[in-house]
Amino acid sequence: MSPHEGQEQVSPTFIPRHVAIIMDGNGRWAKQRGLPRTDGHLRGQDALRATLRAAAEFGVEYLTVYAFSTENWGRPKEEVDALMELLVSAIHSETPDLMKEGVRIRAIGDLERLPEKARRSLMDCIEETKHNKQITLILALSYSSRDELTRAVRGIVSDVQRGVLRPEDIDEDVLSRHLDTASFPDPDLLIRTGGEERISNYLLWQVAYAELFFSSVYWPDFGKEALREALDAYASRERRFGKTSEQIQLED
Ligand code: IPE
Ligand code: IPE
Ligand code: MG
Repeated sequence: MSPHEGQEQVSPTFIPRHVAIIMDGNGRWAKQRGLPRTDGHLRGQDALRATLRAAAEFGVEYLTVYAFSTENWGRPKEEVDALMELLVSAIHSETPDLMKEGVRIRAIGDLERLPEKARRSLMDCIEETKHNKQITLILALSYSSRDELTRAVRGIVSDVQRGVLRPEDIDEDVLSRHLDTASFPDPDLLIRTGGEERISNYLLWQVAYAELFFSSVYWPDFGKEALREALDAYASRERRFGKTSEQIQLED
């Protein structure tokens, strides 16, 4: 059997519980083919479906995907509108399969900025899928880490002003609990597709100790095999969390 056949290639002991992905390269994928950028986004939906299925099959519990950043609001209006429409149509067409496959949908980001129709579709989908248990797909929409942290600080200050929190009790846990990601574990593995090696304002606090994996594959070409490659790389890393290699080996 070739090294890329069969699920046993990825050792279950080393499966990351939470994988975060920066789904990048849709525009370049389309441009390479002489297609409009929005065709790249449309094909990106297929890649997400395939990647989500594979992640669930490999035993990943949480998948957080960067679907639209705060900064992406600054793109040409036609592209922003097309992405918002794609969000609505994707939720509509995918929800029956999400139900069948046990996918729970959640979202992070400043959802108030989404057009009303997109926000409502998203909220309905979150409600409908809330008891699903196979995997949680977290959509980062109108999301940036600095915006999330700024909103968290506002929440903390308001708790202090209402007298429910003392300034001396503010610690890392308090801050974590005020983030959009409060109910999720931190990502173990962060994947960026599309060849760029930067974080682009994504989960800055949460990826403090995540392993990073950069792939040159454009997002529409990503799927099960590309994910397996990232998980294999992850399995070969030693996460030390500031300790020495010897300490880590004693813990195992
Ligand atoms: C990622 O692909 C999708 C979004 C940011 C919405 P891009 O649209 O950034 O594709 P490139 O980077 O221009 O190729
Ligand atoms: C990051 O990709 C945001 C998403 C994938 C949604 P961008 O394409 O917006 O990031 P930059 O501009 O290359 O940093
Ligand atoms: Mg990009």
